[in-house]
Parts: sequence; structure tokens; C-alpha cells
Amino acid sequence: MPTALIVLAAGQGSRMQSDRPKVLHEVAHAPLLVHALTAGAAVAPDRVVVVAGHGGDAVETVARNHDEDVVVVRQEEQLGTGHAVLQARAALAGFSGDVIVLYGDTPFIRPETLEAMLAARAEGADVVVLGFEAADPGRYGRLIATGDRLERIVEAKDATPEELAVRLCNSGVLAADAETLFALLDQVGNDNAAKEYYLTDVPGLARAGRMSARIVTCPEAETMGVNTRADLAAAEAAFQARARAGALEDGVTLIAPETVFLALDTVIGRDAVVEPHVVFGPGVTVESGATIRAFSHLEGCHVSEGCVVGPYARLRPGAELDRNAKVGNFVEVKSAQVAEGAKINHLSYVGDATIGPRANIGAGTITCNYDGVFKHRTEIGADAFIGSNTALVAPVRVGVGAMTGSGSVVTMDVPDGDLALGRAKQVNKPGLAARLMAKLKAEKARRTQ
Ligand code: UD1
Ligand code: CA
Repeated sequence: MPTALIVLAAGQGSRMQSDRPKVLHEVAHAPLLVHALTAGAAVAPDRVVVVAGHGGDAVETVARNHDEDVVVVRQEEQLGTGHAVLQARAALAGFSGDVIVLYGDTPFIRPETLEAMLAARAEGADVVVLGFEAADPGRYGRLIATGDRLERIVEAKDATPEELAVRLCNSGVLAADAETLFALLDQVGNDNAAKEYYLTDVPGLARAGRMSARIVTCPEAETMGVNTRADLAAAEAAFQARARAGALEDGVTLIAPETVFLALDTVIGRDAVVEPHVVFGPGVTVESGATIRAFSHLEGCHVSEGCVVGPYARLRPGAELDRNAKVGNFVEVKSAQVAEGAKINHLSYVGDATIGPRANIGAGTITCNYDGVFKHRTEIGADAFIGSNTALVAPVRVGVGAMTGSGSVVTMDVPDGDLALGRAKQVNKPGLAARLMAKLKAEKARRTQ
């Protein structure tokens, strides 16, 4: 059966107290909307429609950057979740099959759960709603049901005290045949406490029309909705707990898992070791058997097998470490390829550079890549040896097997095998230190007499 996904993302999310639309707030370095789209992708939908409204242009950009096949429609006025789903009707013209509605502020629905909902549809339920037992039902819609047979959903604002006592709540996820769903939505009115067109009226209308409505349940953690900054922080914590557990299951050693922060797209290979207090930003791949030592920060980078990074290293976007490369303490690497076995062990900035195999970059080496307007590249050949405290003024190339003397400011290319010395020549003044010291001490004695 073909499936379509509709993700509702038009609301402002006023309880976030933010200028940013709620669905663009991030968990694990990815917008909530991207989490929802990722969750929905688990059922391999044939069509995906995002309903945008508040901050629509920004929402559209994020949706389409994530997946260019996503169709974004606008809900100019936010008249409720039912009205929002209706905005997707034209985009789904000609589609026949099941529709799953997801809320953009509900990021963690698992694939198994969506599959269970589609299975319930396949077994003949006309409308399927995802419910959960809420520890604190609060503002959630209540599922009025007999067993898994749903009679109707009542919003908290419209509920009687008896209905409010029900703990089985609406997650917001709903599945139905497209034609049935839109036909039922045409009957939804706004005669309720919020004066909104509720999607949640659909199951009751289905029952009134002699159709069936069924409940599939999942744990509360999965349906966690984000409405406030506190919810966002709780969602981050929940994500991190799951991601750490996932990494451990995949054979990654995390010495202190609770101190490691992962991004939605972090990939860490088996037998990699991650020491305490490591932060992964977006776009990081760490291959098998690499070690990321304590207090390192990585984003947009690739760390190959056998590499050792940190402690206290910073890998920024475009850092590509080939096998067995080493990046040590207080080293920052950006847009640079560090070839197999190369070492940058201490206190360096390497940006816009290519470091050849086995090259050794001495402590305090800086690639001066920025002239205030343009960025320039530094190329360092295989087996080169860069002396400590070398400033490499890019664009510049240090040849294969070449060396630079420590403290050099290298402004010209260094041919293969040559040694570059770009510093003042040392002179020694015989006995001058002792004479100077004696003179100073005598002066001090005179002043304190
Ligand atoms: C909704 C449900 C409630 C459920 C809860 C679960 C309704 C009427 N209520 O309430 O039963 O327990 O979610 O979290 O559906 N949106 C639009 N356009 C609109 C209104 C909302 O796109 O006109 C989007 C929002 O951006 C959001 C989602 O729909 O992503 C849910 O809207 P929200 O206002 O947060 O609904 P709740 O009050 O939480
Ligand atoms: Ca909500």
C-alpha cells in the first residue's frame, strides 16, 4: 500500500518564547522537524508533505535541504491541526493509499511504532491513533476508548472532569486512508474551546460514520512533545541517553557515557574509544578503532582507523584524518587533509592545508591562512618536518622531506629536501649575561641603601 507522510509544522510555538519557529529548534544539532522527517522516513513514504506557516520560508529551506523531494505547503492562518492537514490535500491530489500525520514538534517516534500503525490499518482499522499512558496527562488530548477501540478524542480544554481523569493520551500521530481522512476532515468544525479545527475530531466522526478507529500504544518517552524550552532540554537529554546506549550496543567504548554528547548524524565505528567529555557536532564520522581522548570537540570531520585525537583537540568542518594520524592537545584543524601517519601533536592551528603522509608538525605551528580578505592553502609534503613555532604564511608549499627551523616565518615555498630558516641568526656575546646581572644587582643594592 503506498504511504504518504504529512508533517504539521505551521505553529508558532508561543510557549518557546522565541523568534524562531518551534520546529526549527534543535535537538542533537538537528531541527525538531528533521527528527520528525527522519522518524517518518522509516516507513519509506512515497510522498512527504510538510505544512509550514510561522517562519514558513525558514521551515521550507530546512525541509528541502533535508530532502529535496519534500513538498512544502503553506497554512497561512493557523486554524488548528485539522485545518493544517487539509492544506496538504492539493499536494496529495492523485495519491491513493495510507496517510500518516506526524507533528513536527514530536521528534522521537520509532519506526516499529509507525509500522504497527500501518499494520493496524492493513488489518482493517479505518482510523488508527497512536496513544500512550501519560504520567501527567496535563494538556494532552484524552482517548475515550473501550480497550483498543477508540470512541473519540477529547481535548483537555473541552474535557469534563471525568474525561480529564483518563490517562490514555493522544500522541498526535494518526493514520488513515487518504480519501477517508480528507472526507472526514471536511466535516470537522471549530465549535470548541479553542475555536480551532481539530484533527482530533476525526476518530469520533469516523465512528459516527460507522467506521472503526483503533488505538496503537507506545511508551511515553517516544511521543514526548516539545512545547517549552524545558521540554527541549528534556528532549535533548532523552536523545542523548538513547544515542549513548546505541553507541555502546554498536561496540563503541564510552568510558563515561553520560559526559559524551552525540549529534543525530554521528557515526562511530566499532572498537572506537571515546573518553570522557567529548562533544560531537553535526557531520562526524569516526572509524573503527580510533581513539577520541577527553575534552575534544569535533564537527564536520572524518577520523579514520587508528587515529588518536586529543585530549583537548578541536576538529572543525573539513578536517579529514587518514589512518593512524595524530592530532594532540590544543590543536585545531579546519578544512585540512592530514595524511596517513602524520602528527600534529601540540598547540597548533592547521587550516586550509594538506599535510603529507608521516609529516611531523612541531608544537606551536600555525598556518597563517587568512589575509583579512581571502583564505589561502598550505601544502606540506610527505615526511616533512615542521619545526616548533613555525608560522606558515599561505599560500605556501613545504616540499617532500623538507624541514623548517623552529621559530621560522615561512613565506616562500620550500623545495623538496631543503631546510628553510626564516628567523634572525643567533649571536652569542661572551660573558655578557654575567656582567649584566652583576650590574643590575649592584644597582639594586645602591637603591635599597
Ligand atoms: C495536540 C493534540 C493533542 C495531543 C498533543 C500531543 C490537537 C487538537 N491536539 O495538541 O490531542 O495530545 O498534540 O502533543 O491536535 N499545527 C499546525 N497548524 C495549526 C496548529 C498546529 O501546523 O493550525 C502544528 C504545530 O506546529 C505542531 C502540531 O501541529 O507541530 C501540534 O500543534 P500544537 O498546537 O502543539 O497541539 P497541542 O496543543 O500540543
Ligand atoms: Ca504540542
